[in-house]
Amino acid sequence: MKKLINTLSFRLFITLSLVLILIMGGFIYLTLDSQEKHMMNCILISTNRISDFIKGSTRYGMLLNRREDTHQIINRLGQEKGIEVIRVYNKKGEIMFSSIEDEIGKTVDMTAEACYICHSESKPIESIPEKNRVRIVSRADGHRSLGLINPIRNEYDCSNADCHAHPSDIKVLGVLDIKISLDHLDRNIKEAENQIILFSIILIVLINLVTGVFIHKFVHKPVHMLIDGTNAIASGNLNYKITLDSRTEIGELAKMFNTMTEKLNKAYNEIKEWSINLENKVNEKTDELKRAQAHLFQIEKMASLGQLAATVAHELNNPLEGILTLTKLQIKRLNKNSLTKEEVESILKDLSFIAEETMRSGNIVKNLLLFSRQQPTEFQDADIEQIIEKCIILIQHHLKLNNINLVKNYQIRNKNIMCNAQQLQQAFLALMINSVEAMQNGGELKISILETNPDEIEIQFSDTGQGIPDEIKDKIYEPFFSTKANGKGIGLGLSVVYGIVNNHKGKITLDSKVGQGTTFKITLSRKLNKRIVKEEYDG
Ligand SMILES: Nc1ncnc2c1ncn2[C@@H]1O[C@H](COP(=O)(O)OP(=O)(O)OP(=O)(O)O)[C@@H](O)[C@H]1O
Ligand SMILES: [Mg+2]
Repeated sequence: MKKLINTLSFRLFITLSLVLILIMGGFIYLTLDSQEKHMMNCILISTNRISDFIKGSTRYGMLLNRREDTHQIINRLGQEKGIEVIRVYNKKGEIMFSSIEDEIGKTVDMTAEACYICHSESKPIESIPEKNRVRIVSRADGHRSLGLINPIRNEYDCSNADCHAHPSDIKVLGVLDIKISLDHLDRNIKEAENQIILFSIILIVLINLVTGVFIHKFVHKPVHMLIDGTNAIASGNLNYKITLDSRTEIGELAKMFNTMTEKLNKAYNEIKEWSINLENKVNEKTDELKRAQAHLFQIEKMASLGQLAATVAHELNNPLEGILTLTKLQIKRLNKNSLTKEEVESILKDLSFIAEETMRSGNIVKNLLLFSRQQPTEFQDADIEQIIEKCIILIQHHLKLNNINLVKNYQIRNKNIMCNAQQLQQAFLALMINSVEAMQNGGELKISILETNPDEIEIQFSDTGQGIPDEIKDKIYEPFFSTKANGKGIGLGLSVVYGIVNNHKGKITLDSKVGQGTTFKITLSRKLNKRIVKEEYDG
């Protein structure tokens, strides 16, 4: 209902209807008023004629003072339909003749309705204008009567009559008062009123019907077509067309609307094309960035390899020297013709030692090879403990050289994690190397694997090294930021660690105090989706 009230067409319809009702109301009022006046005028004219007629009929009888004749005439005429009473008053207000017998001879008060017209002032008016001779009397039951007084003047014949001559200085001898019922007139007025009102109601209903149809066709429908069009555009349908064939302003508006939609559609398509182009460019740039990042990873790997190379060479040299010495010894022993049982046992012991050392060297070389190899980023289920152990093999000699005690704190039941093992190994190794480099005078490196919640693993690398000052804590992840003198550090380690953790949708945090040590915490989610990201490496 509220929706209907707020529509333009409804308001237009209501306004037009109200204006129409007001106009029709005014028209009815004016018509009825003028009709009543007209009818009243007609009645007045005929009453005047009747009054003159009575005066004329009774004149002769009065002149000869034949009262019975006058009485008969008045009585007879008083019986006519519509005439309520005919009276003749003399100057003193005495009723000389009346169609109501009982009234004859009575004297009326000068303030009575018929007398008051002339006797309202101290001296009676001798000549009254025609309109003032009329009075309309209404009864409580609604019945109306029209009274008309007609003065009987003292004419020449009257003042010279033999019988009862009136003195010639008297101007008015009496008054003829005639009272007519207005019942018939009122009935006519009522009928006319009813007819006009009925006619007006029919007219208003007809005009409203026509206006309603007109407003619906030319206002409501086109406006709603425009609203539907606007809603369609708002919901993204830029191909919407308004099919309104009209030469009115609304038709013009619909045409302009369609033109606007076409332009909007064109502009939208252009923007869409641009955004696709932009997206392609962004993808291209992202690929380029990825390539650069992969390149950075590789550079850092090579740098770490360089750092490891010396110690690894030392690490390999020791077992190889042992292997060589022992092998030469076995050759010498085997060149003998006969071997005692003890000698055979000793050779077998040395050979198993040779095998162990060869296996250890092979492990180091294998890990180094794995570490340096370029591989696409591939996420697979892997054992987090194994990844850390491989790093420890590579770093072990480093730890020994720098007098660093390694503490393992593995508190994890499910060791599986979806990750890229190569990348994680690279990151963990970089963090361990940093810790070793921070503990030049020995210390403790604690590696913890914790299960903070069933979906997450936290790996902590805690050292008792020099610590990181607060003012550089924000910069350490920046590429090429290094505090290490003489080109010992390139400054790529932590930026690569950051990139790898980010690749795994993980988090890296730092807790460090100068002089006390540093702890890096890496949180990784087990629920990482298996995905393969092809990376192209430069060179
Ligand atoms: N465990 C740590 N203790 C103290 N300082 C550290 C530690 N780890 C990193 N830093 C500081 O952060 C800096 C940046 O480390 P990052 O590994 O990125 O570069 P780098 O070790 O200097 O060089 P690169 O790793 O490329 O050989 C280091 O120079 C060092 O000042
Ligand atoms: Mg480093």
